[in-house]
Amino acid sequence: MSVVNPEPILELSNLCKTFRTKYNSVEALKGVSLSVNERDIFGIIGLSGAGKSTLVRTINMLERPDSGEVRVSGREITSLAETDLMRVRQKIGMIFQQFNLLKSITVYENIALPLRYLRKSKAEIERKVSDMLEIVGLTDKTGNYPSQLSGGQKQRVAIARALVTDPKILLSDEATSALDPQTTDSILSLLKELNSRFGLTIVLITHEVDVVKKICSKLAVLDKGEIAEQGTLWDVFANPTSGIAKKMLSRLFKLDDIHCALENLKIGKIVQGRGLLVHLLFKGEKANNAYIAYLVKNFDVCISIIYGNIEVIQTSPIGSLFIAMSGEEERVQAALGYLRSEGIGVGILREWHDKRREEIH
Ligand SMILES: Nc1ncnc2c1ncn2[C@@H]1O[C@H](COP(=O)(O)OP(=O)(O)O)[C@@H](O)[C@H]1O
Ligand SMILES: [Mg+2]
Repeated sequence: MSVVNPEPILELSNLCKTFRTKYNSVEALKGVSLSVNERDIFGIIGLSGAGKSTLVRTINMLERPDSGEVRVSGREITSLAETDLMRVRQKIGMIFQQFNLLKSITVYENIALPLRYLRKSKAEIERKVSDMLEIVGLTDKTGNYPSQLSGGQKQRVAIARALVTDPKILLSDEATSALDPQTTDSILSLLKELNSRFGLTIVLITHEVDVVKKICSKLAVLDKGEIAEQGTLWDVFANPTSGIAKKMLSRLFKLDDIHCALENLKIGKIVQGRGLLVHLLFKGEKANNAYIAYLVKNFDVCISIIYGNIEVIQTSPIGSLFIAMSGEEERVQAALGYLRSEGIGVGILREWHDKRREEIH
């Protein structure tokens, strides 16, 4: 059976943007290309200043690129005049970190605003706004003003306003970055629901690895205006190739903290003066296999399990395990070689040598 590839709803090719000020110039985008399919939740992650906001603003031409193309549903839009752009922008909603609600009007009026610009009838406005209020769960806040709402509620109003004109694509620029973890989760759940219920395509910009982990199906890592790598979430998490993606993975598993904590333990004692502290990453089905028992039995090494945890990336597990391994040098090396040959990530964090023994031999 042949699998039909979904059509890209959004294609960016070779986008470049340099900001020139009186004193300097900043190359914010250096030839960015990516393709988002219909119904994707496409994450773009990068550090502050990487160019994420500039990139997302070129998608609806709030920022015109210096060169490159943007295609929305196959139509090139960088060359469009402002009047034609208006129509394209209706297909693209946007939400922001700071919500950008108008403070002086009610929740109802904030959501109705895009429809009023489009001169929709009173009846249609009433119907659409009450539908949206129900979808985002704020029917009881219709007459409230933004100042009377929590951060999460404000973002729900912003989502309702962004979607009231039935756009195909939602751009989210750090929409959860001002929210606490619990509220972040509830907004991410809402976005996920909008994606599965209405087929909404979402481009989600964030600097937080936990956010992409929770809802994105695909991921691009933006670093200094360039795509460092992209692929399915699993591809990027299980086999990171760029330095920045590796750092993200280590943040996910809190490797630096754990490494630091382990330094404070007397692991030298556990390995009896000679041995290794090893970090293992088990990906997918490898997470289920009984490797430790196999190593002890077949390589005659001694293993102490120090710390382990597991993350689920798009229904597949990635396991992280810290062990201390000791035994005859050759056997230890053979055991590590075996793990590598099985496709397990092996990182040697520390090595201990028993000075006394070395002196005797
Ligand atoms: N309007 C602007 N004028 C000058 N420089 C800008 C402007 N907008 C963004 N930049 C610069 O472009 C780079 C990328 O910024 P931005 O896209 O906001 O990054 P991010 O959203 O990833 O933090 C930064 O160095 C920033 O200072
Ligand atoms: Mg930004």
